[in-house]
Amino acid sequence: MREHLKHDDITPQLLGTAFGINPEIQDVYGEKFYMRLLVNVVDRAHKKREKLKQYNTIDDAAALLKEKKQIMVITGAGISTSLGIPDFRSKTSGFYTKLMAQGYAEPEQVFDIFEFDENPSAFYNLAGALLPEVRTFSPTHKFISLLQDKGKLQTNYTQNIDNLEQLAGIRPAQLIQCHGSFATATCRKCEFKVRGSDIFPEMRAKQVAYCKRCTERIATKAAASTPKKQKSTIYRNRYTSDDDDDTNIDDDIPTPGVMKPDITFFGEQLPDTFFNRFTNRDCKTVDLVLVIGTSMKVAPVSDMPNHLPKQVPHIYISREPVDHVNFDIQLLGNCDDVVFELARRAGWELMHAMIPPGFQTVVEPVEGKEHHWKVFRLLDD
Ligand code: OAD
Ligand code: ZN
Repeated sequence: MREHLKHDDITPQLLGTAFGINPEIQDVYGEKFYMRLLVNVVDRAHKKREKLKQYNTIDDAAALLKEKKQIMVITGAGISTSLGIPDFRSKTSGFYTKLMAQGYAEPEQVFDIFEFDENPSAFYNLAGALLPEVRTFSPTHKFISLLQDKGKLQTNYTQNIDNLEQLAGIRPAQLIQCHGSFATATCRKCEFKVRGSDIFPEMRAKQVAYCKRCTERIATKAAASTPKKQKSTIYRNRYTSDDDDDTNIDDDIPTPGVMKPDITFFGEQLPDTFFNRFTNRDCKTVDLVLVIGTSMKVAPVSDMPNHLPKQVPHIYISREPVDHVNFDIQLLGNCDDVVFELARRAGWELMHAMIPPGFQTVVEPVEGKEHHWKVFRLLDD
């Protein structure tokens, strides 16, 4: 950056355009903000992993699967869509896409912790649609558990909150739920934890779930107070007498905390297990990375490939190609079809009720991209 900016003809704004930054950002947010953003973006571009030239084809991918023994699998919502669970960003069916169609300008705010604390009903109004109602797993889940059975699965880092990995037999010791899950819920005030299912009724009914412990404590306190005091605790500021005027009437009304499912919201730190396992263990030992069914738009998961040793190959499996992360091989199609074909080429049998007998796929090259391949199922008719 310093080199470039020495030239008078290159302004920070012009340099920023080379990294996709809208020059108007400086006018709107000021120079200091703009320069911080530029440094960040340039730093990111600098750290972006480079594609390994020797791996390009689907057979290279199958050979890697056979050869490697400590595989990291990073998954997202795309591995559950074949079960009828929507993902977030797909063009018409994604959860966020649908919310935008309903008039939500920034649908990701539903999962923003600051928004949640301000107005939890926005989340509770929509949360019912996200509950894990499905009790089956996809062929892709099964493929990951097949890797585990073969002793090759180092860790499945899932961003999903549907808990279907356990159902497919992926052991807790091999699984990191990067964005938490609905398995438990915690009070935002007193940190009381309950089983997630305890608040499902409120989520389904679109009502905010409040903490039972907070509620009990408030009731106990109120019962222990004299009737006069009780009135003052409930209706008045504790520090004003009944004779004072009512200006602070709402200030200290004891209210129970709101329960939040233990899924990671924007603005919240990922679980410690994520950082511990990735940095202290997997970063050093992983020999192959498979990224399946995620748009890789949400950090820090989207940054994981850039922190792994350069020689570790990365394979991407999803419907749409990506270019903001450099993958060595991109296998494009429904992930259930792709993993079926990969397993077949590796000489393994992937058995699942959704894979009928005689199932076959077609693999086609993508013009102009020697490491992109389209995979789709061959239909009988
Ligand atoms: P996205 O919806 O962003 O991405 C899903 C990706 O999977 C898209 O690229 C789809 O094209 C692709 N896809 C969908 N169905 C597929 C299929 N059957 N086969 C292959 N690919 C398919 O979902 P995530 O990347 O998981 O956070 O989103 C990341 C995070 O954003 C989520 O964990 C969620 C959200 O905010 C929380 O819930 C906290
Ligand atoms: Zn509480």
